[in-house]
Amino acid sequence: MLELKHISYSVREGDGELGILKDISLTIDDHRLVVFTGPNGGGKTTLAKIIMGLVQPTEGRIFWNGQDITDLGITQRARLGISYGFQQPPRFKGLTVRDLLTLASGDEKLSKDKCCQYLTRVGLCANDYLDREVDVSLSGGEVKRIEIASILARSSDLMIFDEPEAGIDLWSFARLTETFEQIHRTGSATMIIISHQERIISLADEVIVVGDGSIRHRGAAAEILPQILQDTLGACPVLTKEVQAQ
Ligand SMILES: Nc1ncnc2c1ncn2[C@@H]1O[C@H](COP(=O)(O)OP(=O)(O)OP(=O)(O)O)[C@@H](O)[C@H]1O
Ligand SMILES: [Mg+2]
Repeated sequence: MLELKHISYSVREGDGELGILKDISLTIDDHRLVVFTGPNGGGKTTLAKIIMGLVQPTEGRIFWNGQDITDLGITQRARLGISYGFQQPPRFKGLTVRDLLTLASGDEKLSKDKCCQYLTRVGLCANDYLDREVDVSLSGGEVKRIEIASILARSSDLMIFDEPEAGIDLWSFARLTETFEQIHRTGSATMIIISHQERIISLADEVIVVGDGSIRHRGAAAEILPQILQDTLGACPVLTKEVQAQ
């Protein structure tokens, strides 16, 4: 179980402080699929990085399976079974896809067959990619899918995916959605997926709308989707018909 208790995060801005996350408390039970969604700049990535230990909260505590992990670093959290896929994944010159999957899995002799299984789950063919370097020669969508495959290889208890759909073509997206559904069905991990995609939102046990550094709504997908739509309508004069579209 993951528990966030009164998490706040602020940065210095000029003489003052800029509040990015404001007193967020949240509990996520094991094997749930929770989607964080909400407007750009709302604080979703910051919250995910705080869970992974990439950003240290200004206030509040984080508990994982009852253990206070607030002061633990990324490596220690990874050892406790938490993994995070970046919104914009880093590239690793000199490291092949096979190396990356091997490192992630912790199995020094990871077979080609196993690599192939992980890559297939994100819609990639192992033969084309295993010996490629994870460098700038890979497209944005390829590097994103390879990173997701490395999270699958890590088989963590808590997997956090930051906009896994970003830059991914429709066919691979369908494959990826099936993968998320399958992980969820087998109950092999708790998943937090940051997403703006209705298809992913509809998979969630719970949807949490993060806006302006706070939790704006939370509930079942069927209940939250109409609210999101209503918020969206409120924000755009064309959609609210105050301005007639041409
Ligand atoms: N270190 C920082 N210094 C200043 N501002 C920051 C810092 N980190 C985050 N922010 C700001 O905090 C806000 C939340 O950022 P965050 O990346 O968490 O948003 P997000 O919800 O993931 O947005 P998106 O949907 O665009 O990915 C943004 O306005 C961002 O510019
Ligand atoms: Mg983000």
